[in-house]
Amino acid sequence: MKALKLHRLAAVATAFALAVPAAHAAEKADIAAGKALVQQHACFTCHAIEGTKVGPSFTDLSAKFAAMGEDKAEKALDQDVHAGVQGTPMPPNPTLSQAELDQIADWILSLKK
Ligand code: HEC
Repeated sequence: MKALKLHRLAAVATAFALAVPAAHAAEKADIAAGKALVQQHACFTCHAIEGTKVGPSFTDLSAKFAAMGEDKAEKALDQDVHAGVQGTPMPPNPTLSQAELDQIADWILSLKK
C-alpha cells in the first residue's frame, strides 16, 4: 500500500517536472506573438522600444506597469491597449481579442530590465 502511494507521488512529481518547461515554452511563444501583433497594429508608429516618440517607450511602459505586480500589470495593459487613453493620441484597439491583448502585455512586460 505504502509503496503504491510513493509510486503515485513519483508519477505526480514527474508530471510537474514535465509541465514546467512546457509552460515556459508557451510563454516564449506568447511573447513572440505579442511582438508580431505590435508590429501588425502599427504601435511602433508612436512607440519605440527605447526612447520617447509620440508615446512613451515600451521599455519605460514595461517598468511602469511591472511595478504593479504581474497580474495587475497584465490586466491594466490589456485595458489600456483595448480602450486607448482618452484625451491622448493613444487609440483604442477594439479588434484585438483577449488572447491577443494578453500576448501584447506579455511582450511589453518581457522588456523590463
Ligand atoms: C497614434 C499614436 C499611438 C499609437 C498608434 C499607439 N499608441 Fe500607445 N500611446 C500613445 C500615447 C501618446 C500614449 C501616452 C498616453 C498618455 O499620455 O497617458 C500611449 C500610451 C500607451 C500605453 C500606456 C497607457 C498608460 O496608462 O500609461 C500603452 C500600454 C500603449 N500605449 C500601448 C500601445 C500599443 C500596444 C499600441 C498598438 C496596438 C499602441 N499603443 C498604439 C500613442 C499611440
